Amino acid sequence: MRSVYIKTYGCQMNERDSEAVAAQLVADGYSIAPSELVADVVLLNTCSVRDNAEQKAIGKMQNLAAEVRKARPNLVLGFMGCMAQSRGKELLDDLPQVDLVVGTQKFHRTGEYLNDIFSGKRSRIAEVAEESGSEATIKEHLSDAAGPSFSAFVSIMQGCNQYCTFCIVPYTRGAERSRSIDDIVDECRTLAGRGVKEITLLGQIVTSYGKREIGVKSGHSPFVQLLDAIHDIDGIQRIRFTSPHPKGYGDDLAEAYARLPKLCASAHIPVQTGSNRLLKLMHRGYTRERFLSIIQKLREVKPDIGVTTDIIVGFPGESEMDFEETLSLVREAQFDNAFIFKYSQRRDTPAAAMSGQLAEEVKEKRLDQLLQEINRIGAIKYERFIGKQVRILVEGPSRRNPARLTGRTECNKIVVFEGAPRHVGELMDVKITRAGSFTLYGDPAILGVD
Ligand code: 5AD
Repeated sequence: MRSVYIKTYGCQMNERDSEAVAAQLVADGYSIAPSELVADVVLLNTCSVRDNAEQKAIGKMQNLAAEVRKARPNLVLGFMGCMAQSRGKELLDDLPQVDLVVGTQKFHRTGEYLNDIFSGKRSRIAEVAEESGSEATIKEHLSDAAGPSFSAFVSIMQGCNQYCTFCIVPYTRGAERSRSIDDIVDECRTLAGRGVKEITLLGQIVTSYGKREIGVKSGHSPFVQLLDAIHDIDGIQRIRFTSPHPKGYGDDLAEAYARLPKLCASAHIPVQTGSNRLLKLMHRGYTRERFLSIIQKLREVKPDIGVTTDIIVGFPGESEMDFEETLSLVREAQFDNAFIFKYSQRRDTPAAAMSGQLAEEVKEKRLDQLLQEINRIGAIKYERFIGKQVRILVEGPSRRNPARLTGRTECNKIVVFEGAPRHVGELMDVKITRAGSFTLYGDPAILGVD
């Protein structure tokens, strides 16, 4: 039996794609190798969103080719995902040790390509063409040999039509294509049947789900219709989604938080910048005022909602004044946490050719300054939980201290506490005793649960 090891870079969509490819290969008779050192096939599922993610994967591939293949000459090496899509055959030309390049619409054909390589029918394959219907092929899940999984990702759509000027995703993931509600509900039902309690719906711009394929019904966007349909599934207790776009936060979605108790009180809404001038240059399609009004509406509907965001510092032409606008937006919005990125020039994107590209030192300085502000606000928000009781879905042993358990609140905060392993997969009430850096610590709320 041949074995495969898949290493994943980047976002949750990539994690999900890797899982689906792994499950498809297992169905083809492969086993999952415990490490890259003993695998017959190693696939790197790549990210292109910033240059350092690409460099990491290329460095890793060079290392695998030089080191691991020395001991295992027949090792098959491949790239899949976003960098595979954007660079295609160029990767075969630049890296002579690479056997396979699988684009983002070809994941489900990985098994065929490997067959061709192993049978000698073809060598050195790069396949990155568009394929209609490919959005519905990311549906297989690994049946967890290590123990049941209580939380699952479900891919609902592929691609993005927004064309933000900094972003490579429309070029690596293609145009928006959505699966049908029935197909997605089937997958979620199967997962619920296996004991999954929490579903996270995934897509590059989930708030645009079904825009072309499914119409608005009774004032509900297709995405809200999907949330309703999943909410009806017995066994599913928590629903999350990522990533939305602010322009998709209509009143129907805000109201869904009040209407659907399983929809977690949590929203990750990328703002990117607080400067209206830059929002326009980024082609984001909203103003800071509109963004702040969305957050206000969400907090009216769900006062405890956890709100996080993504911010880019050092977009071309970002002045001190623009950056001050971002700092002031962060103070006004009171995010629970934020991911901050230094702008990275991406090939073929309009922003890469804009004048006013900033020096690394300027980006570095702004990142540090913004991070301090995010940490300061986050600390206050997290401390407010001390003494409160929260309900968490217990995920497993804590990474830092495996003697403890970890889980997440509805508002997506990590809680670490002392508890018996039999609670894994359960919803449990925990009393918060202490707040650390973006982590809460607690005790089981009911005496004697242990
Ligand atoms: N440079 C830096 N950050 C970027 N992101 C997307 N493109 C770029 C880029 N060119 C960030 C955005 C997005 C997150 C996933 O990655 O903040 O929301």
